[in-house]
Amino acid sequence: MKYAILSFLLLLSSLGSYGQNTATLTVPAKPDRTISRHIYGHFAEHLGRCIYGGFYVGENNTKIPNTAGVRNDVVDALKKLKIPNLRWPGGCFADTYHWKDGIGPKDQRPTIVNTWWGGVTENNSFGTHDFLNMCELLGTEPYLAGNMGSGAVQELADWVQYVNFGGVSPMSALRKKNGREQPWKVKYWGIGNEAWGCGGNMTAEYYANEYRKYATFVSDWNNSGGLTRIASGANSADYNWTETLMKVIPKNLIEGVALHHYSVINWDKKGPAVNFNEQQYFTTMKQALFMDELIQKHSAIMDKYDPEKKVALVVDEWGGWYEVEPGTNPGFLYQQNTMRDAMIAGSTLNIFNNHSDRVRMANLAQAINVLQAVILTDEEKMILTPTYHVMEMYNVHQDATYLPLTVKSTDYTLGEQKLTAVNGSASRDKNGVTHVSLVNIDPKKKQEISIDIDGATYKSVSGRVLASKSLQDHNTFAKPDLIKPTAFKGAKLKGKTLQVDLPPFSVVVLEMK
Ligand code: AHR
Repeated sequence: MKYAILSFLLLLSSLGSYGQNTATLTVPAKPDRTISRHIYGHFAEHLGRCIYGGFYVGENNTKIPNTAGVRNDVVDALKKLKIPNLRWPGGCFADTYHWKDGIGPKDQRPTIVNTWWGGVTENNSFGTHDFLNMCELLGTEPYLAGNMGSGAVQELADWVQYVNFGGVSPMSALRKKNGREQPWKVKYWGIGNEAWGCGGNMTAEYYANEYRKYATFVSDWNNSGGLTRIASGANSADYNWTETLMKVIPKNLIEGVALHHYSVINWDKKGPAVNFNEQQYFTTMKQALFMDELIQKHSAIMDKYDPEKKVALVVDEWGGWYEVEPGTNPGFLYQQNTMRDAMIAGSTLNIFNNHSDRVRMANLAQAINVLQAVILTDEEKMILTPTYHVMEMYNVHQDATYLPLTVKSTDYTLGEQKLTAVNGSASRDKNGVTHVSLVNIDPKKKQEISIDIDGATYKSVSGRVLASKSLQDHNTFAKPDLIKPTAFKGAKLKGKTLQVDLPPFSVVVLEMK
């Protein structure tokens, strides 16, 4: 009798800690959408130790193996991620940056004081050639952020000519003199950054008119197969900004509108990156999942002016933003990266995949040593963060055919507050392999999900999972592999149903053939 009661209680407790969810995966006969690989883009600003010490350690560094000053370990790690594009040189820094200061002999370059980030003096040793050559090394497309805030139209027009023109001109001659014969053919150009704030504190109307002028002179020099000009976009839910840009800027002058949204608890009290409590976790995830509503509402505005969806929504800054690590320069935005960040990354990328008809480019902020980084470095040491692993697991979706996955999720509750516990997305790659990515943000409950498959039959399922013992777990220089993906055994195919058991706060990517 005693044992019967005990087993009953055990059964009850296991039921209580399990969420039941359903979903439908549809495999259309004629799929009409691709998930652009550019959704998986990154961001490298002259901020703290992102460029100097992160990407670049200088050509004369004998301690850290490098190629033309760029760390070899970083190049190897980012190649494995298959990063499709890299945004540079900012951020707020971009609107203070004068590109001509970063070309020519390094010992003759003027210095620049980084007024936005720590007030440090930089020697401009990492400039246009260094960045664009590094992109070639990484096999990634550069996304240059032009200076509209404090730079002239001519300065931006010259930069485009310098990097993109193959013929005879003053700027191409200067490029050749500096050692680069062929143009780099840079396709992605940002026209200012956060023009509503650090980029010049402009009104939407004023910016939109300025944009028209700058965009006119950003020519493709008949060389790069058409440019993608990206307007500085809204701050989170500033829908009026998007509306004004779409109304005022003619469609022949714009290919992308940006959007910035950070998962921040409170701008005045951001909370720690590691020792956060469950309420702080909940609020961060609420902010991260808000991305879905933001995209829906900004897209609805864009649909009014651009029903054919020619203009892309480019979420060129996203990620978690917390207090800096104790003892580090507050202007350098260096923070650790835990399983909470894995939840942000997995959920946000699912949201982007599901809105890939309009969201065709995005940039995680930032790549190394800043905010939600994929890589952290300490002199010659380098570690990969949980966010890196999510990005790597999800790269199967790059340029794959989008497959609709609708999830009916239970709630993750904290007191009276609730959030959707499970989110997901799916795609089919060029080899016909289907990938399903699922996130359970609930820190306490496992989630069971039963997925009906409509339109295809699969024979096998396998997968990988990113999970850990505690939400606060993170990789350190002493324990670099505490969190890394492992084989996942919790998925079973039963005819047309895929049954998955998701551990608490986990990211799973399944492969079905
Ligand atoms: O990513 C850090 C900063 O956040 C960027 O420089 C700016 O654009 C944003 O406010």
